[in-house]
Amino acid sequence: MCGIMGYVGPQQAGPILIDGLRRLEYRGYDSSGIAVGNGTIRVQKAEGKIKNLEALLAEDPPTGSIGIGHTRWATHGAPTDANAHPHADPSGEFVVVHNGIIENFQDIKDELAALGAEFASETDSELLAHLVAREYDGDLAEAVRKTVALSQGAYAMVVMSTREPDTIIAVRKISPLVIGLGDGETFLASDIPAILHHTRDFLVIEDDELVIVTADGATIETISGEPVDREPIHIDWDAAQSEKGGYEHFMLKEINEQPDVITETLRGRLNADGTVGLEGLEFDDDYIAGLDRVWITACGTAYNAGLIGQEIFRRVLRLPANVEYAHELRDADPIIGPKELLIAISQSGETADTLAAARIAPDHGARMLAITNVVGSTLSRYADDILYTRAGPEISVASTKAYMAMLIAQYLLALRIGAARGTVDEAHARAVALGLHQLPRAVREVLSRESEVLAAAERIVDADDVYFIGRGLDYAIALEGSLKLKELSYLHSEAMPAGELKHGTLALITDGVPVIVLLTQRHVYNKTISAVQEVKARGGEILAVAYDTDTEIEKYSDTVMRIPDMNDLLAPVAAVVPLQLLAYHVARMRGHDIDQPRNLAKSVTVE
Ligand code: AGP
Repeated sequence: MCGIMGYVGPQQAGPILIDGLRRLEYRGYDSSGIAVGNGTIRVQKAEGKIKNLEALLAEDPPTGSIGIGHTRWATHGAPTDANAHPHADPSGEFVVVHNGIIENFQDIKDELAALGAEFASETDSELLAHLVAREYDGDLAEAVRKTVALSQGAYAMVVMSTREPDTIIAVRKISPLVIGLGDGETFLASDIPAILHHTRDFLVIEDDELVIVTADGATIETISGEPVDREPIHIDWDAAQSEKGGYEHFMLKEINEQPDVITETLRGRLNADGTVGLEGLEFDDDYIAGLDRVWITACGTAYNAGLIGQEIFRRVLRLPANVEYAHELRDADPIIGPKELLIAISQSGETADTLAAARIAPDHGARMLAITNVVGSTLSRYADDILYTRAGPEISVASTKAYMAMLIAQYLLALRIGAARGTVDEAHARAVALGLHQLPRAVREVLSRESEVLAAAERIVDADDVYFIGRGLDYAIALEGSLKLKELSYLHSEAMPAGELKHGTLALITDGVPVIVLLTQRHVYNKTISAVQEVKARGGEILAVAYDTDTEIEKYSDTVMRIPDMNDLLAPVAAVVPLQLLAYHVARMRGHDIDQPRNLAKSVTVE
């Protein structure tokens, strides 16, 4: 996610903006810039890390006591100097920074271009500067209001202008914004850590609100212009806590960001009728209709995400699909033909094994589709087609929100493929679309039941071995739950298909051995319960993940972590959350470094 800074007051704005952007670096970015007003507005920006921007400023320091700044996480257009924010209209009198996505950017761009506008960047954000300039008629706040009315999407936008040299206008539509209230100076940021050392008194801006910021403070209005009376809050976090938004660890922050990540990954891509528009996919319906098979390749958690895609493609689309570990596929000399699609999944887009496996596609005349979280990553540059997840930077080594976004991306891809092949009818697509849109609320509900997970964590924190079992999609989730527990708590864990237990591993189940069972796939529920009974008969302990309406499991389970009822095909999105939290709490109870587990790296760029 991008970072935003703003300042107006008696001090020089430049150093304050840079300092604030540095304190937002943890959010991840690939370019940065500032604009400082002093009669005119000076925009200075650079690709890469903030040190590149600082080198520019050292040569030519800006002067002025009002300014805005930005760190960009690329979504539209690669990370370049030109695409970095801030963006100005051609006159240079209106300057904007923006965090989020303008869904109707192409329509706006076409309309502006038809009127002769020329653009300095590939970004959707630049269009906002053009619109504010066009709509300005003596009132900057009103021009911003009109611009917001013309642009669809979720974002935060901050504007300054030579026409009102002592004022900054900010708007929040989903992406966060906070105002810091100083003594004769006012600060603005996308997150509290950027300005907490200047002030501990904040105004939190809510969705669809506009703020008029001056050195004397901030006036909040609704986007339609109604005054809003809001009491400041006092924040007493320490510096370490503040980067994590008040959470103890990035991992817990990222687990709790998952409802918003689902919303972001769906945004502008999924219509109510189940049709999807996936920017970045270049292939056409004829290509899809001619597909014989889909291969999915990835590593670790991304591989576990691919298992969900495999099951959906097979069961729903009736399209042959197989997921392969990238480190295996790369040397397996697979038989992949031109009528087969290779999907490579990678949060970082830099995993060496996944890059190597992805690169075999052209050797076989096959297209390669990248599902990745990093715009401009190596994998995205190899790909014929790109489906970006929009999880924002994932800081914790253990992948959670990026995994969630990978699942959502595959559901969207399945709808796209199903529509083109006629294997998903409109009624089914509409039902899946409704279910997808309901997932953020379902995940929030699961997150609110953390106490159930804490009870389960207490039961396994001292175990030597923990087993995860499930069938079909539940087995895929079991694998992810087991990986999370291993990489965070260092407890030995193993996941297997529930039906496989009796073929050997049951020999290890004795008194008190914990077995975590997933029970969301109702078509195989009774068969999974048979495995549960096998465990109980040997004294094993059952901890279950089950629907709210499942009364059967109470007979067998010592602890149940509940999820709301939903379409079984979508259940992995909710069912993985208790397992993420379980791994987190067991690791916390065992006193481990949660965000940087031993021996692990966020991106395994070596083979
Ligand atoms: C997951 O929690 C791990 N950090 C690891 O398995 C990771 O998923 C794997 O290394 C793949 O990384 P990628 O998605 O960046 O390719």
